[in-house]
Amino acid sequence: MLLLNASGCLDALTAPDVARAFDAFVTKTVTPEPRQGNAPPRIAETDAGMLNAIGLANPGRDAFIRETLPRLASLGVPVWVSVGGFSSRDYAETCEQLSRDDVAAVELNLSCPNVDEAPETAAEIVAACRACTANPLYAKLSPHAPDIGETVRAVEAAGADGISLVNTLRGLTLGRDLRPTLARGAGGYSGPALKPVALAAVHAARRATALPIVGMGGVWNGRDALELLACGATHVALGTVLFADPDAPVRVRAELYEEVGRAGFDRPENVVGAALDTVANLEN
Ligand SMILES: Cc1cc2nc3c(=O)[nH]c(=O)nc-3n(C[C@H](O)[C@H](O)[C@H](O)COP(=O)(O)O)c2cc1C
Repeated sequence: MLLLNASGCLDALTAPDVARAFDAFVTKTVTPEPRQGNAPPRIAETDAGMLNAIGLANPGRDAFIRETLPRLASLGVPVWVSVGGFSSRDYAETCEQLSRDDVAAVELNLSCPNVDEAPETAAEIVAACRACTANPLYAKLSPHAPDIGETVRAVEAAGADGISLVNTLRGLTLGRDLRPTLARGAGGYSGPALKPVALAAVHAARRATALPIVGMGGVWNGRDALELLACGATHVALGTVLFADPDAPVRVRAELYEEVGRAGFDRPENVVGAALDTVANLEN
């Protein structure tokens, strides 16, 4: 089991010690061209989580590969690069340029709620990237997919090596003046309220595939991580919690090992899928 950060929730270059507490560091999504992201405000707190509409702000792939990646590689933590784009060609070209030793895996962000949807399907994008790279390819999917099992089977058939679930849900908050708090209007909803959504998505994905699954969404403590493993996640990622608690990787890992023992297992790996026998049909 690997403990990872969720893409966009940790800047490893400003907080290298936090990054080193993970088994691998996942970058913020990189797009072909530099992006300023959306106008502010682009983060808002809600009663049970956070809303963001960062809009994939990033330096673009040329500057990322030339300047950021060598610095990340020197941290001594395996680097997973999150790749985004607006066509399968965008994704594939970035994958091609990232085919190098200092990239441990590529996570294809197929699900950003804060930019317009890519016109191609997730499977088409995965197939285009598969043709361009031998790096392990993780397909990061949206919890909005009407049938997650079907999407998982399609991206696996297209050549994905793993699945990441979930990205944020689309949400909206209003200020006192009854206008949307975020300049863009809706944004991505993350944090504790996302946990049941993540558990359902990972559970559905595990029933559809034997591929590794990175589970994320509202993980705040070891029990949350344990539940994701029980639903079929093989790895766990921490996102919003990092804004509240930079010690979360060390704390959640320690708590998880305690929870694993308390649940009667000897290792996290043995928990994977434990909830699958007990729920007949979660989609109903
Ligand atoms: C501020 C912020 C920025 C994010 N940026 C990205 C991103 O660039 N790429 C991506 O795939 N997911 C991004 N996400 C989504 C997270 O990686 C994660 O899927 C989601 O927040 C659910 O996990 P959590 O509830 O533990 O935060 C972002 C989330 C937040 C809160």
